[in-house]
Amino acid sequence: MTLSLTSHLTPADASAALRADALAGLTAFPKWLPPRWFYDERGSLLFDEITRLPEYYPTRAERAVLSARAPEIAAASGADVLVELGSGTSEKTRLLLDALRDAGTLRRFVACDVDPSVLRAAGAAITAEYPGVEVAAVVGDFTQHLGELPREGRRMVAFLGSTIGNLEPGERAAFLAELAATLSPGDSFLLGTDLVKAPERLVRAYDDAAGVTAAFNRNVLSVLNRELGADFDPEAFDHVAVWDAQQEWIEMRLRSRIDQRVRVAELDLDVAFAAGEEMRTEVSAKFRRARVAGELAAAGLVLTHWWTDPDGDFGVSLARP
Ligand code: AVJ
Repeated sequence: MTLSLTSHLTPADASAALRADALAGLTAFPKWLPPRWFYDERGSLLFDEITRLPEYYPTRAERAVLSARAPEIAAASGADVLVELGSGTSEKTRLLLDALRDAGTLRRFVACDVDPSVLRAAGAAITAEYPGVEVAAVVGDFTQHLGELPREGRRMVAFLGSTIGNLEPGERAAFLAELAATLSPGDSFLLGTDLVKAPERLVRAYDDAAGVTAAFNRNVLSVLNRELGADFDPEAFDHVAVWDAQQEWIEMRLRSRIDQRVRVAELDLDVAFAAGEEMRTEVSAKFRRARVAGELAAAGLVLTHWWTDPDGDFGVSLARP
């Protein structure tokens, strides 16, 4: 049927946001960069490769939940519109689309992602695979453009892959409150959350033997080089993944191997890195059921269902306004 593409993030918006983030993060101490800037075309491809790594269990664990529970999820939601935030390839989403189609309710799929390249490919593929379903692809940032998403129909908003873990607690509360404000009675929210487990497994998932996660982490430097005329040598930084037991999150960092100065031409900025200095590039929070329920409740959402894979590695919750 039809594929429509809407953009709330013009290349100019994205470029202004990147400049602001890079200026703030590179002049802070300690330095940081937001994980959003991993996802240019190469970054989306590297992440897709990560999802197939033997060490990266979350994708498989979430797929196990969705494979086993999609019909229950479809029935509990009663949705005729599936909205997916941070959709990427929408690979696991097909399990939900199949179940909603089999339940006879599915009319429309709305995919929202910051990367137009992955969105276009996924949108075209789903349009071909689900004849009779209206597909809308929305280029947007789930922390900024929730208010712009279509409101018609009985919607299930899916936020899978534990992408919510990239937000810090305050950002999560703001995101959930804003999301709750866009939900109408009858709508539902399907949330995927990676769960707290042995630190060794967590660290391995973010520091794989093949070095794909290291390449993904360094890719943010290539994005700054291309978009901001910076002269980072990505190989002059080591990939670091650490478990913060207090915060219950994995942190990814880039550690400067040497004393170096980096020029960011478009910001007219010179940035000094000391040998061993670490710049934070991502937090990936890990959850427990009580925390998920509590954070949903704080946003005015009621957790109605909680499912995990047989090993208890990954949680999927369904909530209602
Ligand atoms: C896409 C945000 C869920 O945090 O596990 C994978 C990104 N970073 N390996 C995650 C990621 C390093 C991923 N999310």
